[in-house]
Amino acid sequence: MDRLIEFTKHVHFTFGDSVLEIIYLIASIMFILGLKKLSHPDTAKRGNLWAATGMILAIAATLLLHSQDGHKIGNFGLIFTAIGIGTILGWLIAKRVKMTKMPELVSFFNGMGGAAAALISLVEYPHISKELIADHGLLNWNTLVILLGLIIGSISFAGSVIAFGKLDGRIKDIRSKILRVINIMLLLFIVGFALFIMTRNQVNPIELTPFIYILLAVSLVYGVLFVMPIGGADMPVVISLLNSLTGVAAAMGGFLYDNLVMLTGGILVGSAGTILTILMCNAMNRSLFNVLIGAFGGGGMAAETEQGSIKEVSITDAAILLGYSRKVMIVPGYGLAVAQAQHLAHELDIILEEKGVDIKYAIHPVAGRMPGHMNVLLAEADVPYEKLLESDKANEEMENVDVVVVIGANDVVNPAAEDDPSSPIFGMPIVKTLKAKHVIVMKRGMGKGYAAIENSLFSHEKTRMLFGNAKETLQKLVAEVKNI
Ligand code: TAP
Repeated sequence: MDRLIEFTKHVHFTFGDSVLEIIYLIASIMFILGLKKLSHPDTAKRGNLWAATGMILAIAATLLLHSQDGHKIGNFGLIFTAIGIGTILGWLIAKRVKMTKMPELVSFFNGMGGAAAALISLVEYPHISKELIADHGLLNWNTLVILLGLIIGSISFAGSVIAFGKLDGRIKDIRSKILRVINIMLLLFIVGFALFIMTRNQVNPIELTPFIYILLAVSLVYGVLFVMPIGGADMPVVISLLNSLTGVAAAMGGFLYDNLVMLTGGILVGSAGTILTILMCNAMNRSLFNVLIGAFGGGGMAAETEQGSIKEVSITDAAILLGYSRKVMIVPGYGLAVAQAQHLAHELDIILEEKGVDIKYAIHPVAGRMPGHMNVLLAEADVPYEKLLESDKANEEMENVDVVVVIGANDVVNPAAEDDPSSPIFGMPIVKTLKAKHVIVMKRGMGKGYAAIENSLFSHEKTRMLFGNAKETLQKLVAEVKNI
């Protein structure tokens, strides 16, 4: 009889575990399908919902079905209080945030992911089982996974906090050669110290806990210092890198707990972030090694260029120029998002097209403040996807363009990226507006872009400035073009 009871207990646990694994598999598939749908503006919203549903499923199944050595999860009061507080805060912040502040929010959420991964490592390190150490010493898979989660998670947390401050304009760049040397030394120390901890075979993990806190502190300092010098036009690369680091840190938690869904989620975020980082590095002509040691851009201040004479154009003249063009290229930038003028840009595009003008949009990979910012903005205004050209493709067509209309873009059309080796954006590919016959630039005044440098495009002989808030300027321009 005892054996039968024992057997039914076993069957019960095996059954519960199998159901849990199947739910994890379903949740993982939902993550993958969700990510796939996120790759197109039409399906992106649904993709987000799929991935979120997968996450809810995984959390609920873990709370109800997970058991270890016959013990189910307890402390439901604490768990649900934490989930409740997190959900309400996250909901309120996401509801209230302005579209233009989204990049800061994404950076903040990314940092929280890194912090959570680092905390898992801090909590789990003292519990590495003594038997495991007796058998293999500390040089084992669990220790490696815990240390990697701690290092990568804390670098991602500290780096994301600095990135948040920079995007928000509260933290300024600090560039110096000494910082690069310090960063390389810190990186070497972190690797060396982690190896040192791993090889302390005979020591009880509890006794090594102070070392873990030293590793945490140095990783946090490195996270701060490696983002500190990066600024100007190079922030997008660092943001996608931090994203991938958080994914990898979460995947370490998945390895540690042998949890399929956590592992899949982490790997998806990590690999998507890595691909984006590589694409961003290519788009910005930067090397990944330089990102890691914080050596970026032209390394100094741009030479202050003499601002030549600025020529303005009236709304009527701009409307005539556009209305009698054969080919027009719109270059949207951060200012378009600030003004929320995407619907008017599309209206201008429709009216011009009705007049027989061929009209396209040149999308620079880092225009705006987050990857794909312009794509999202224009998709919101129902601009057909086929009209959006990547900047390389747009540059190929530029010689045949009669008028380029720059709406709230600055750094991504700054010729200093090609002409001025001392510029912090030197080497970054730009939309080559000056290859077109005429350039009209819409912005409020002579304000600088994110990289805070002068732009000689505005005083070029081909350029005419149309000053004002992009929304009002476009409203007037649309009305004027209708009358032609
Ligand atoms: P920016 O260089 O930031 O220039 C935007 C311009 O828009 C400003 O010069 C501003 O001039 C104008 N503007 C602001 N509000 C406006 C309004 N209401 N109406 C009309 N104009 C307005 O933009 P960009 O060319 O898109 O370049 C993006 C920059 O951000 C790059 O340096 C990029 O590296 C950086 N960055 C990008 C990302 C990603 S992932 N995309 C992330 C972080 C940083 P006025 O003040 O004179 O109007």
